[in-house]
Amino acid sequence: MKNSLVITLDGHSACGKSTLAKLIAKEMNYKYIDTGAMYRAITFFFDDNCLIDNQGLLKNNAFDYLDKIKIGFSKLDEKGQSFVTLNGVVVESKIRNLEISNLVSEVSKHKPIRRKMVEIQQSYSSDGGLVMDGRDIGSVVFPNADIKFWVTASSKTRAKRRLSEMLDKNIKVDLKDVIDNISRRDYEDQNRKESPLIKPIGAIEIDNSNLSINQTLDLAMNHVNSLLNK
Ligand code: DC
Repeated sequence: MKNSLVITLDGHSACGKSTLAKLIAKEMNYKYIDTGAMYRAITFFFDDNCLIDNQGLLKNNAFDYLDKIKIGFSKLDEKGQSFVTLNGVVVESKIRNLEISNLVSEVSKHKPIRRKMVEIQQSYSSDGGLVMDGRDIGSVVFPNADIKFWVTASSKTRAKRRLSEMLDKNIKVDLKDVIDNISRRDYEDQNRKESPLIKPIGAIEIDNSNLSINQTLDLAMNHVNSLLNK
């Protein structure tokens, strides 16, 4: 088996896929791409430039700006981390708040936006091993990926995880608002017309509700290693 695998992880909001994806990438010495961060960065651009109306809907002229928006990732820092960039500037600290979380599903349902993101995402597989997580990675971006994971966790576990992630980043929110946001995004991500969130064909399901991070990683790496040893 070749050693430069493409590994995809899909699942609902806050199911633990990014944490797992980062750990797999570290273990394999592969590049990690967080596609949710890309949709959040473009949402931040539209919000910051008053291209979203007060109902949370994207204004029609927003599409005129698509060619001017450059989404990428920064070089690895000393901790081996890379962050999403918007027109060359790292925007990580601006994209994880509830305001962007509440707008991102509306922005990400539009075909021209998805087309642009998918093109960028596919370009990352050209130079070696890749771990990518999101909502349509194993179904649309890399339908022929070497390994696809479908990550799940109970709603309660997901809400608690997202709350503690936000509190760690000094973002003040309460559990009820986090639960509302997660359930609304789950609904919108699964029911949109363009590339809805689905369990990709051939994906291996990992339910991490009752697993530690290390147990989840071991489980995923068993699958990766058994493929590599074939
Ligand atoms: O993974 P996340 O919660 O940061 O993702 C934010 C939103 O971006 C998610 O609610 C839907 C959208 N998204 C998407 O439509 N397709 C992807 N591949 C990744 C994220």
